Amino acid sequence: MNVLILGSGGREHTLAWKINKSKKLGKLFIAPGNAGTAEIGTNLDSDIADFNVLKAAILNNAINLVVVGPEAPLVQGVHDFIAADPDLKHVAVIGPKKYGAQLEGSKKFAKEFMVRHNIPTAQYKDFTKETLEEGFAFLEGLQPPYVLKADGLAAGKGVVILNDLKEAKKELSEMLSNQKFGEASSKVVIEEFLDGIEMSCFVLTDGKHYVNLPSAKDYKRIGEGDSGLNTGGMGAVSPVPFADEDFLQKIENKVIKPTIEGLQKDGIDYQGFIFFGLIKVKDEPYVIEYNVRLGDPETEVIIPRLKTDLLEIFEVASSKKLNEIKVEFDERSVTTVMLVSGGYPEDYEKGKVISGIENVKDSIVFHAGTALKDDKIVTNGGRVIAVTSYGKDFKEALKQSYQSIEHITFDEMYFRRDIGFDL
Ligand code: AMP
Ligand code: GLY
Repeated sequence: MNVLILGSGGREHTLAWKINKSKKLGKLFIAPGNAGTAEIGTNLDSDIADFNVLKAAILNNAINLVVVGPEAPLVQGVHDFIAADPDLKHVAVIGPKKYGAQLEGSKKFAKEFMVRHNIPTAQYKDFTKETLEEGFAFLEGLQPPYVLKADGLAAGKGVVILNDLKEAKKELSEMLSNQKFGEASSKVVIEEFLDGIEMSCFVLTDGKHYVNLPSAKDYKRIGEGDSGLNTGGMGAVSPVPFADEDFLQKIENKVIKPTIEGLQKDGIDYQGFIFFGLIKVKDEPYVIEYNVRLGDPETEVIIPRLKTDLLEIFEVASSKKLNEIKVEFDERSVTTVMLVSGGYPEDYEKGKVISGIENVKDSIVFHAGTALKDDKIVTNGGRVIAVTSYGKDFKEALKQSYQSIEHITFDEMYFRRDIGFDL
């Protein structure tokens, strides 16, 4: 089958790398892709945000399967568009339709879903400009720190955690009255602060059945010791050492199963990944957020642990028979360390020549923000390259990632030297 992957990051290069190994693959396309995906497939520079352009790309390249990497096209309804077009009837999509994508696209929708299906999550209330005063009163009744979340997609910046009540009220006004995050903060969820350690779980579901993927933990802050600004993720580890069998079973019973059953009870036709952002509080899992896609850089550690042919899994998912496949994983640990542009997550320069990738022999180099320019690989984003390694445990894998990184250079390259420090 011919496959089109939507997206351009490390997640998409990793999916392309895995799909490229499939015996079911005909031709592989990535839109827009990066310098890494160009080595194993064909990058399409069509503007796929325009669904009619996407349709032409699907038809011109005889695509049978579209795998959606990031959340934005899903929230905008790319799956609905493909499903509704008579010319695209034969095309399968991995990624939920618009309605189900609200699990990520609207914090309020996700919270209401969790409450309705008894899924453990922080207590909350939601507010609009009209109920600002009630929001102030709600904040007054909470203990600090105060957690404020813009309802809609805000490029990972919509969650603000503050210690001071006055600042929290000011932030709430800015979000609601001054539209700090635009339309995304026309509603705000305020919730109880949960104190614990974070990790993530992933499933692929056909709406009825699901397969568990490995757990992972990512490192979101730019600075060592989890300090400084939030990023998309600076590194990841899989499996999560503190999530033992018992705890994973608890997650399955209290979070994963009720979520899949909830989709069915609510009549949500869901075909794709679910990423459970969890926090472990006193040995109990709570859901911090749902994402309707895989994580980045979590994909760079979970997909390399998958032994089964990914296209075979996608094929049975598309025919809603995920119960019929046995999925196997590599028992080893996998880690990734992200190399980023100096200045990221604030302003940074692009176009720096990257050298030494070809000298990495004992790790897998996944491209995130890279491009080809005059036959050279150059930086083209904040997060540039993820260096993934296997090991008997996460420490051995990390040691290998750090050794491999020594081969790679670009001007103002930065990375965290302490991934896994808290494990
Ligand atoms: P989100 O975008 O929902 O993943 O939130 C971003 C980050 O904010 C999470 O990864 C957590 O570190 C933190 N966070 C969100 N909600 C809470 C909460 N209720 N209690 C503590 N931390 C939270
Ligand atoms: N690494 C977090 C995310 O993909 O949302």
